[in-house]
Amino acid sequence: MSIIRGEFSSRFGFVMAASGSAVGLGNIWGFPTQAASNGGAAFLLVYLILAFTLAYPALMAELIIGRHAHANAVSALRLVSPNRLIGNIGALAGIAGLVVASLILSFYAIVAGWMIAFFFASIADLFGIEALSVWLISFSTLRNIMFMLIFMALNVGIISAGVQGGIERWSTRLMPVLLTTLALLVIYVFTLDGALEGLRVYLLPDFSQILSPGLIINALGSAFFSLSLGVGTMLIYGSYIKDNENLPVVGGMVTLLDVMIAVLAGFLVLPAMYVALHSGVEIFTDSGDLISEDTLIFTVLPELFYAMGVTGIIVSLIFFFLMSVAAVTSSISMLEVPVAYAIEERGIDRKIATFGVGCVIALISCCILLNFETFFSAVIIFTTRYSQPLLGFVFCIYAGWVWQRDLLLRELRKGNPNISEGLFWKIWPWYVRLVCPLIILAIFVQSIWG
Ligand code: PHE
Repeated sequence: MSIIRGEFSSRFGFVMAASGSAVGLGNIWGFPTQAASNGGAAFLLVYLILAFTLAYPALMAELIIGRHAHANAVSALRLVSPNRLIGNIGALAGIAGLVVASLILSFYAIVAGWMIAFFFASIADLFGIEALSVWLISFSTLRNIMFMLIFMALNVGIISAGVQGGIERWSTRLMPVLLTTLALLVIYVFTLDGALEGLRVYLLPDFSQILSPGLIINALGSAFFSLSLGVGTMLIYGSYIKDNENLPVVGGMVTLLDVMIAVLAGFLVLPAMYVALHSGVEIFTDSGDLISEDTLIFTVLPELFYAMGVTGIIVSLIFFFLMSVAAVTSSISMLEVPVAYAIEERGIDRKIATFGVGCVIALISCCILLNFETFFSAVIIFTTRYSQPLLGFVFCIYAGWVWQRDLLLRELRKGNPNISEGLFWKIWPWYVRLVCPLIILAIFVQSIWG
């Protein structure tokens, strides 16, 4: 290919970028709220098992194919195919992946826009500009569109600067900030009354739920969403890794970081809910379940912050800053998927491609916002519940069945000449071949007919 491709400059750069992609709203918001409503530690346990036994092998499939091809998913799946027909099917899956990545970004940008609006509302509160603060936290089409656009502009700015100048540079800056902020908030929450009650709910498993299909499907969806799988994001990040890098090790680091941060976020959000209860905020729905999803982040927590006075404003500012940072490092990885395709397959200049793709996605976000009731949850369910596991399934089939095993081994040997003697090579090939596809299919079928 004539285009000079970007490359991560170091292992640290890759691990920060890929874990930046993985760690996002899914970890800090999705995981804790799901754990809260799915049996606490029972969900945590199933999530951990699925993350290491299913999501990690699927992540490796994407990373290895990407690194081998040093290209976007469309070319990469073609390259590992033995004939034209299978190559075309792979290319189609690659295109589906980039469509799904764009759709995920279109709703993600809306939610991230709310996070930024709430962040600015805290600043307005700090300066006593109440009218502005109320406008910023109220649901209105103007506010929604405005902050979605601000968020998209941030993404376009970073991605148009390329792999090292944009993705790596910002991920290596923002990820340490994210980790520190999260850790500080967790420590702070534990000094408040009621936190231990939340900790109890989080860590005491309700095993009656552990085998419920609902719990397992949610945990699988969470694990796939959380590791950014099934849309070609990890494949394209893998394609920017240097040839001498030991892939199973860096993939393991990314999985560990992702899981650790989700678990850590649980130590923040669940105790915070019970601190809110302690300060008189309602945290249960009429049916007795814990409030989750958008009501939790945009109602329960703000009410808690409000009850805490000036300290609450500062904590709120830090919390929504954390959410916004987590959202940016993830969303840039979604944007990179269609952008890399436009650059490599259509020969478009990076800056123009980024701007063009950014505009199209912003337009889709606008359509969702203007028909919020109809489209918002529908797009989320279509992309995260169905498309991601299904496309993840396809990537596993290409890594496990389509691609020749000796070529695959050769790719892995580049970063670790003795890999065939290790545990990874003894287990993983069978995993992507049989275990991953079968389990994904079983859970998927269950989620449709169950
Ligand atoms: N992993 C991200 C999160 O947890 C979401 C994501 C999905 C990012 C798909 C890229 C691709 O929020």
